[in-house]
Amino acid sequence: MRKKFVAGNWKMNPTSAHDVVRLATEVIVGLKDEGRVTAALCPPFPYLGLLDTLLKQHKSQVLLGGQNCYIEKDGAFTGEVSPAMLLDTGCKYVILGHSERRHKMGESDAFINQKVGAALAAGLEVILCIGETLAEREGNQTEAVLDRQVTQGLADVKELSKLVIAYEPVWAIGTGKNATPQQAQDAHAFIRRRVGQLYGDPAAQALIIQYGGSVKPDNAATLLGQPDVDGALVGGAALKADQFLPIVRAGIL
Ligand code: PGA
Repeated sequence: MRKKFVAGNWKMNPTSAHDVVRLATEVIVGLKDEGRVTAALCPPFPYLGLLDTLLKQHKSQVLLGGQNCYIEKDGAFTGEVSPAMLLDTGCKYVILGHSERRHKMGESDAFINQKVGAALAAGLEVILCIGETLAEREGNQTEAVLDRQVTQGLADVKELSKLVIAYEPVWAIGTGKNATPQQAQDAHAFIRRRVGQLYGDPAAQALIIQYGGSVKPDNAATLLGQPDVDGALVGGAALKADQFLPIVRAGIL
């Protein structure tokens, strides 16, 4: 049985340390001693250290993740953050290939693949985001897109024990329009089958595949109830503890 994994992707929010501490504290207190679901928070870079301190103060089981990283260890790369820096700031995870980075920052599968390799080599666990646009879905390209993003995103990755995949249909992110549980299940089953062809069945069966895209308290239970949906990557609803906590609890088996 795969343990459910719910992560909050805070994106470029909240906008003050005060609000970060308040939100994180509510989540930490709300999940005190909750070991049945893996939960993680992914704040903006400037607040990682603050959150790491807070999590340690509370002896919290909630884990920390970054939202991006660069492909190099160190050097003259103004504005970038290395995987080792994320680790050193207490991160266990890094989100890579998020659709906002693919579509707003123009990141390619090849570049994302370099990041995946660098993050894994440094010892981070990777949440690799994949997902089709509305035009691709309507053009019956969903499986081809997922296939390309998995194959190219994971090129040269030898094994998957430090990898999570987040299926996030682009048309469902931040739109309030979630995939139906059946659409999510179909995509997740396809991804798991494809991973099985590439890495073998045991690796595919052990792989955590999160769903992301307008996950809310009222749709979390049915989405997370699908056999191949192993958790959620939550954006907007992760910014309010009274929405994020019930989503995490929907993952209790
Ligand atoms: P959303 O974002 O929950 O606001 O749709 C999800 C994500 O981008 O990871």
